[in-house]
Amino acid sequence: MQSDVERLLETATRDIAEAQGSSRALEQLKVNYLGRKGQLSRLFKQMGQASEVERPIWGKLLNEAKEQLEKAFSIALEESKKEAQKQKPSFDITVPGRRSLKGRLHPITQVVVEISRIFNWLGFEVVEGPEVELDYYNFEALNIPKDHPARDMQDTFYVSDDVVLRTHTSPIQVRVMEARRPPIRVIAPGRTYRCDSDVTHTPMFHQVEGLMVGEDISFGDLKGILTIFVHQMFGEDVGLRFRPSFFPFTEPSAEVDIQCVMCKGQGCRVCSQTGWLEILGSGMVDPEVFKKVGYDPEIFTGFAFGMGIERIAMLKYGIDDLRLFFENDLRFLKQF
Ligand code: PHE
Repeated sequence: MQSDVERLLETATRDIAEAQGSSRALEQLKVNYLGRKGQLSRLFKQMGQASEVERPIWGKLLNEAKEQLEKAFSIALEESKKEAQKQKPSFDITVPGRRSLKGRLHPITQVVVEISRIFNWLGFEVVEGPEVELDYYNFEALNIPKDHPARDMQDTFYVSDDVVLRTHTSPIQVRVMEARRPPIRVIAPGRTYRCDSDVTHTPMFHQVEGLMVGEDISFGDLKGILTIFVHQMFGEDVGLRFRPSFFPFTEPSAEVDIQCVMCKGQGCRVCSQTGWLEILGSGMVDPEVFKKVGYDPEIFTGFAFGMGIERIAMLKYGIDDLRLFFENDLRFLKQF
């Protein structure tokens, strides 16, 4: 009996090796060896003829052989399955492809690009400055002393006593003037931060700063450049006006209003029935600022302006909720 079992195991091992790779052949072999009418069953049946003493020994021998064969078959079947998997192409080349999503610039970025394009054409260079800024550049050098209301803790994010998140892009004016000599013609777009959050304010927003300094730059230049900008940005037929205003770092100062883009100046909800919308702050660079950067105010004059990009984008695209820019809802972004 022992030799019968050994022979059976031997031939089974050889058969399995030969059938390797073909699941069908292996299944067939498995039936031949382990099935109800298979070779092992036949040996089990012969056990009946054995003596009382021999029977448990044979039983043990046969059960071991059965276990061994079952294991060999399961390993071989597993292998051939893996092999078959590998040979199958991993994708169906006849399935139509999935269109890949095309990204596009965020509307805020698009407006920055547009504004930069217009000012580039007017001879302005694009520069940048740090968002985490020294108190000195954000306030002090812009003629905003320590006790000025614009420094109210509620508006400014303080990083430490003399470091803030810039509350406007105006510190870039100072940095540019410190680093260069006139003539200067720059615009500086970037993120700005104010501790303010409601329907019309977000703690982070964007501005574009502009600065032009030379030996005889006048308020007329300011008006001319900003008028050309408004006409390029919103259309030749859009009216604008310069309204006296105040900024610590410009003198005189003016805010620029454009005719309401929604009602064309007739008066509506968006312009609070006035027909006008404020779009930027501007003015002639204050002599105090020139002194801080070591320019002689008797020789140099210049103008500066700053505008909120979200506001420009809302007016240009007729968007009525500021928060849409920051939620990144694709249904909104896809429209641009
Ligand atoms: N920095 C001002 C603001 O944030 C705008 C401004 C810039 C005004 C330059 C005048 C000159 O409101």
